Amino acid sequence: GKSVGILAMDIYFPPTCVQQESLEAYDGASKGKYTIGLGQDCMAFCTELEDVISMSLTVVTSLLEKYHIDPKQIGRLEVGSETVIDKSKSIKTWLMKIFEECGNTDIEGVDSTNACYGGTAALFNCVNWVESSSWDGRYGLVVCTDSAVYAEGPARPTGGAAAIAMLIGPHAPISFESKYKGTHMAHVYDFYKPILASEYPVVDGKLSQTCYLMAVDSCYMRYCNKYEKFEKKPFSISDAHFFAFHSPYNKLVQKSFARLYFNDFLRNSSLVDKDAKDKLEPFAQLTGDESYQNRDLEKASQQVSKLLYDEKVQPSTLLPKQVGNMYTASLYAAFASVIHNKHSTLDGQRVVMFSYGSGLASTMFSFKLHGGKHPFSLSNIASVLNVSEKLEARHVFTPEKFIETMHLMERHYGAKDFETSRDTTLLSHGTFYLTRVDSMYRRYYAKK
Ligand code: ACO
Repeated sequence: GKSVGILAMDIYFPPTCVQQESLEAYDGASKGKYTIGLGQDCMAFCTELEDVISMSLTVVTSLLEKYHIDPKQIGRLEVGSETVIDKSKSIKTWLMKIFEECGNTDIEGVDSTNACYGGTAALFNCVNWVESSSWDGRYGLVVCTDSAVYAEGPARPTGGAAAIAMLIGPHAPISFESKYKGTHMAHVYDFYKPILASEYPVVDGKLSQTCYLMAVDSCYMRYCNKYEKFEKKPFSISDAHFFAFHSPYNKLVQKSFARLYFNDFLRNSSLVDKDAKDKLEPFAQLTGDESYQNRDLEKASQQVSKLLYDEKVQPSTLLPKQVGNMYTASLYAAFASVIHNKHSTLDGQRVVMFSYGSGLASTMFSFKLHGGKHPFSLSNIASVLNVSEKLEARHVFTPEKFIETMHLMERHYGAKDFETSRDTTLLSHGTFYLTRVDSMYRRYYAKK
């Protein structure tokens, strides 16, 4: 095989953030609700200078520069996003500015949208293109870009913002195991954006949690079945070194991994030891629906899978806990956290990925990792991602200043004829930012 997959990655998130601990106090929530209850540390957000277009311009420019990729070598560009700035004009067309300047307008692909799943759809499109007979030998490029903001209320602390770019091609250090995909798609109203005049979603929080966990179960079952069909042996948690989940907030990731463990127990996996079997036995007869509501099962399965969680999931949680829900970029930021934490020991290892987009669309798939050759090596990807430095360089806003920013963003959403402050003090060198929107709603960006 060609080992098609991810050759290179970069991530950008705004340098502006708010601490969950201070937000919790400001909101009058009980102490620990956002930090321990939701499991979140910090939340990034865009100020009036940044949006999903500027973040994607920043991350694509940075990726091309840092890996020395000639823009003419890109043959397909796919964007995943659920943040609507324009109901017709794709974000991809904005990114064409970078390529037009180099004389390359021969680039297929537009935007994909379904809540947080759009990035995965974009990735599959690029991988399938490279694997297909219409591939012309050039690279694919996937961009996931979102600004997750919620109205005041319990969902507000589950926001976040980021853009991720991934270069796709053959002989990749992060190669796709296309044979073992498990997908579950259905129609539900758990999280959606029917109010076109507002950036905020309508969300049924409890339903969205249950839908997510049901999707984890369905996808895992299908993934296991496909694995077994091809490998002629059962799959269990022990067959993957790491798991990366779409991460609206960390607590849901903890619950999801516990669900995988419970599935292994129900499937009689040899991974589950005697002690864990005894603890889970009382729940073996629950129907699916009952099992999602059962708090004792939740507790017991989290407890017996705790050590495996620390080993196989915890390394993926850094960016999602520090940046928040990045919607389409969330899963890939979790994966980037694994590379950041473990790049020197990943050779030959498997990472299982779970993508979830409300509405709903979900897939479990996996990557096989290889050290790779410079510049497309795991260690170079880790150094380009530069996660620690990017996190440390951030500016912490007070909750008051965060709320003030949200109000300004509400006034700017869908507006025309305004200029931004152009005060780029907090932005790092090379960051694109919004300067104005004219009377025809045309947007203008500059690069610091
Ligand atoms: N100390 C420690 N833990 C606490 C505290 C405290 N002081 N107070 C509450 N908690 C715990 C709760 O017990 C709960 O944990 P549990 O589920 O393990 O019991 C957790 O904190 C959250 O508390 P809830 O009362 O359940 O929170 P609430 O209902 O107010 O809001 C929710 C949470 C529904 C997730 C909300 O933030 C939301 O709607 N977010 C957006 C929807 C979402 O992200 N869904 C996920 C999939 S869809 C998507 O990706 C958009």
